[in-house]
Order: sequence, then C-alpha cells, then structure tokens
Amino acid sequence: MNVVVTGGASGIGEATVRGVLARGGSAVIADIQEVKGKKLAEELGAQAAFYATDVTESTQIAGAVGLAEARFGPLTGMVNNAGIIGAIGSILDTPIEDYDRTMAILSRAVFLGVQAAARAMKPHGAGAIVSIASTAGMIGGLGPHVYTMAKHGVVGLTKSAAAELSGFGIRVNAVAPGSTVTPMTASLTNNSVEEITDNIAEDSPLGFAPVAEDMANAILYLLGDESRYVSGHTLVVDAGQTTGSTWRPPFFDVEPGMM
Ligand code: NAI
Repeated sequence: MNVVVTGGASGIGEATVRGVLARGGSAVIADIQEVKGKKLAEELGAQAAFYATDVTESTQIAGAVGLAEARFGPLTGMVNNAGIIGAIGSILDTPIEDYDRTMAILSRAVFLGVQAAARAMKPHGAGAIVSIASTAGMIGGLGPHVYTMAKHGVVGLTKSAAAELSGFGIRVNAVAPGSTVTPMTASLTNNSVEEITDNIAEDSPLGFAPVAEDMANAILYLLGDESRYVSGHTLVVDAGQTTGSTWRPPFFDVEPGMM
C-alpha cells in the first residue's frame, strides 16, 4: 500500500498514516502544518515522507503524489482528508470570502485530489481513492452551512468519479465520520479533549466518543483489497446517529406486540 494522505499531520489523517505504516505500507503526509508533519514523518521512519501541501493548490497536490511515486513506487491509495470547519454563522451574514475559502479546502481540494490520484493510477490500472465526507454530508443541520454543502458534494463526487474510474480499475469511496475526538473538534471546547469527549459521548447512540483510529479503520478497509468490490460508496461511521430522526417514535419503549 503506497498512499498519499492530505491533512495527514493531525487527527483522522495522522491515524490513517499510522495505520498504513502498521500494515507494512508507505505514506506521504501532505499537509499545510510543516512542523507537525515533518516531526511525524521523522518519527515514522523511512516508509513515511512529508510534503508541504496546501490542498487548494493543484500543483502541490500533484507534487505530493509525485513524491509518493518517486520514493515508494506506484500510488495505490489516495486519502482526501484535509479539512477545517470553515465559515460559521447565519447564512444571512456569511461573507463570500469565507464561503470561497471553505469550499476551496473542503470541496475543490477533494476534486483536485481525485484528479491527481486518477492520473497517477490510470497507467497501472488499479488504485483506491477515499475522500472524507461527514455525517453533515448526509443530512442537514449537523454542521455549518458551507461545510454541509461541501460534504454533500464529496458524497456526490464519490459516486460520479466511481462511475468513470471503475473503467480504469480505480475504486472511489468516502467515509462519513460522525463527531470524533480530534484537534478539530477539541478546538470547539478551547482544546479541552475531556470536555469534547464527554459532549460527543452524550449525543452518541452507543454512549461513547469515537477517536481518530475508529475512522482510520474504515478508511483502511476502503484502501485495501478486502473492499475490492466496493466503489461509489459512502461508509457512514456514526454509531447509527443518522439512521433516523432524533425524535423517537412511540414504538420502542413498549411491550412487543402488534397494532
Ligand atoms: P484535524 O484538524 O485534526 O486535521 C485536519 C488536518 O488538515 C490538519 O493537519 C490540517 O493542518 C490539515 N489542513 C487544513 N487545511 C489544509 C490545507 N489547506 N492544506 C493541507 N492541509 C490542510 O481534523 P480532523 O478532525 O482529523 O479532520 C479530518 C477530516 O475529517 C476533515 O475533512 C473533517 O472535515 C472530517 N471530519 C471530521 C469530523 C470530526 O468530528 N473530527 C467529523 C466529520 C468529518
């Protein structure tokens, strides 16, 4: 497995990089955070490399893919993971510059990542692309407006790109995490990991908060041969939170029977 992970210096991306290496693969950490990314690559050794990448720049994403191929051989996997929360607040007051920056990172960059990976994988007739959506990409009201819009787009591109790229042996899938304990969510509680863990657990149908490795495990499944017949799919990893309404119908807490 030879994989580029955008946003690989932190959170879900970092856990994915560690998972790839633990399975004997190699990874390029393509991240805008140079200090953290370089430190992680040094810690992981010869099978990891860092490439300073702003995912909004097509040449930088292509550069990360180029490094993976030059250093480790044919690219077998691409994880379009880099993200921010982006524009928050009422749609009535959102500055268009905030909209543009958010979409550039959460939407345009995923398109660029799929494109760069497909160009590299096509000559080899194989590859697996995994983009990170969100439960906010499945239903409304779970995230800010622009984030929700971008993540729905990730789910759409996953289906569309899968339809074209399967002809080249390339699978395209997405993972849609529910709220997960990472630096991104910890920033919502002033970087208090304990507080965000409690908050997420309180809302979780399973009563505990997932960590980055829970999402990385789903990503690793979609990168590997165990999912060789899976494409165009968005794997929701949310303890079932988005399977139904938060309103509980009056059919559950009663004696079993017929009505
Ligand atoms: P994180 O903040 O721990 O990691 C995000 C990484 O992306 C960071 O290393 C950051 O430097 C990098 N990044 C940000 N902008 C970049 C840019 N322009 N170019 C290159 N790298 C950039 O966040 P986390 O939670 O691990 O998020 C990873 C992905 O998972 C994101 O796409 C996020 O939207 C998604 N997600 C996270 C959820 C959560 O609850 N943590 C829930 C649903 C989806």
